[in-house]
Amino acid sequence: MINAINILKEAQKSCCAIGQFNVSNLEILKAVLNAARNLKSPVIIGTSEGEREFIGRRQIVKLIEAYREESQIPVILNADHTKSFEEIKKVIDAGYSAVHFDGSELPFKENIKITKEVMEYAKSRDENILVEGELGYLRGGSNIHKAVEIKEEDMTKPDEAMEFVKETGIDSLAVVIGNVHGIVRGGNPELDLARLAEIKNAVGKTFLVLHGGSGISEKDIQEAIKIGIVKININTELRVAYAGALKNFLSVKPEETTPYKIFPDVISAIQKITEEKIKLFGLPVVGRRKN
Ligand code: 13P
Repeated sequence: MINAINILKEAQKSCCAIGQFNVSNLEILKAVLNAARNLKSPVIIGTSEGEREFIGRRQIVKLIEAYREESQIPVILNADHTKSFEEIKKVIDAGYSAVHFDGSELPFKENIKITKEVMEYAKSRDENILVEGELGYLRGGSNIHKAVEIKEEDMTKPDEAMEFVKETGIDSLAVVIGNVHGIVRGGNPELDLARLAEIKNAVGKTFLVLHGGSGISEKDIQEAIKIGIVKININTELRVAYAGALKNFLSVKPEETTPYKIFPDVISAIQKITEEKIKLFGLPVVGRRKN
């Protein structure tokens, strides 16, 4: 099993973040892995519950194994926003190298209880499985929104974050600091970086994860990495590139029906965005440390 924890430790030491790119089909997977291979960067492939239902849990595990062997690039496979212990078991048994248990809708104590059970199960199967928990109410889905309203009470509270990581022992914590899933038409909200710094102080070396990476300004992303974010999730920008390139190709060549002639444009569009994100997040360099 790939050592996902060591990869994030290297990112933390190098003051950079590893991108998680969500996929639901072979074309998106190919595009993301082409980008990782081009830039010689480790990468995390994410699948939400809907995405993995579509592509297949065992199927994505095997596809990634095949690409990993061929390219020698470290590829972590994460089960994004998994809402039940039963589903956590399914993905671990299928061979995922990382799991995100999202108990953020549960009462705080219940979230701690189930996250702890997830930790125990994952580590009993393999110590190297990366376990992510979540605190706070993350609004929106991975699509385009007219507007999203963020409330103060949605955000992760530093004192709860401290208790949560102490009680559960999780490897990573997904936080809500003004981030939302999706792209907001008039511009995504700014991140509350002061809150992020307080959370970082409260959780020490626990890896901090920023969901809803699409649409966030480059400046906020760079600042968030400086403060301590080591994993950033991107989905909507890839979906928008996918749909846009496909519509564009078919409007120019409506008679084309051969998939391997239609999809190269789609793959290049997604690959381009993935490469831009990987460059923005920075590459881990062994030995380079935060001041
Ligand atoms: P975006 O759709 O905003 O990129 O967020 C993706 C995400 O956080 C997946 O967990």
